Amino acid sequence: MKRKGIILAGGTGSRLWPITIGVSKQLLPIYDKPMIYYPLSVLMLSGIREIAIITTPEDQPQFQKLMGCGRQWGLELTYIVQPEPKGLAQAYLLTREYLAGAPSAMVLGDNIFFGHGLPELLAAADSKSSGGTVFAHHVNDPERYGVIDFDTSGNVTEIVEKPKEAPSNYAVTGLYFLDGRAPEFATEVAPSARGEFEITDLLERYRVEESLSVVHLGRGFAWLDTGTPGSLLDAGNFVRTMTERQGLQVGSPDEIAFRLGWINEDRLHQQADAFKKSTYGQHLRSILD
Ligand code: G1P
Repeated sequence: MKRKGIILAGGTGSRLWPITIGVSKQLLPIYDKPMIYYPLSVLMLSGIREIAIITTPEDQPQFQKLMGCGRQWGLELTYIVQPEPKGLAQAYLLTREYLAGAPSAMVLGDNIFFGHGLPELLAAADSKSSGGTVFAHHVNDPERYGVIDFDTSGNVTEIVEKPKEAPSNYAVTGLYFLDGRAPEFATEVAPSARGEFEITDLLERYRVEESLSVVHLGRGFAWLDTGTPGSLLDAGNFVRTMTERQGLQVGSPDEIAFRLGWINEDRLHQQADAFKKSTYGQHLRSILD
């Protein structure tokens, strides 16, 4: 079965209040694009065209206004409501029918990945037919994330959510490739002390049966945080620096769809014309030229 995508874009965004009281966090700008374009690009680079977008009930219309059914990118987007945020593993309960047994790649709507060779790593994760793959990145402040620990042979010994004392500096990033059993395993996850269905508990299920692969995103990769006003600004500045210095787009679904042959030149023309007053639109134009 073909892998389907999930973007988790719910949540209250309370760490960014009052910014996110009137608008969903995942619609905030990261330099020249809405935040959700970046994780969407990651799924597209994985070759995934059927994607479910999970949002709060109030925010769903804004996401639909932005992305519609996805046809402009050769995608099939489905919108699913998360009535109340109860943890990342809940996403698999909400998408159980949608996935209908298919393997999935879930990305958090506020995670931004950048690095040379990412498409190859994603393709390798996609080609694994059973078990799961997660992506680990070395960080300064592991206590803020899911943390993964290894033994000397590189086997995963532990995955813990926001530990007071982190067993390693490797954070589990918000990108999870899991096989078709994920929704079933999610039903077995009990709420944690903070009342959430933790993704780390679901991953643990795969770890104990030794079917969880960990891909290290090394030094050449950037995994950007958008959880605080400062890190949000830093992420925008990073994208601006890369875009202006290289003259290349970071996280453009339009460009990716075109390069993968999911849309033709006419379609890209239409998009470039529609956005011609913005630098984003002008960049699309330059691809055509
Ligand atoms: C979530 C996960 C955590 C992961 C992180 C990545 O935490 O629970 O395991 O490392 O995303 O962004 P949150 O940022 O939602 O608190």
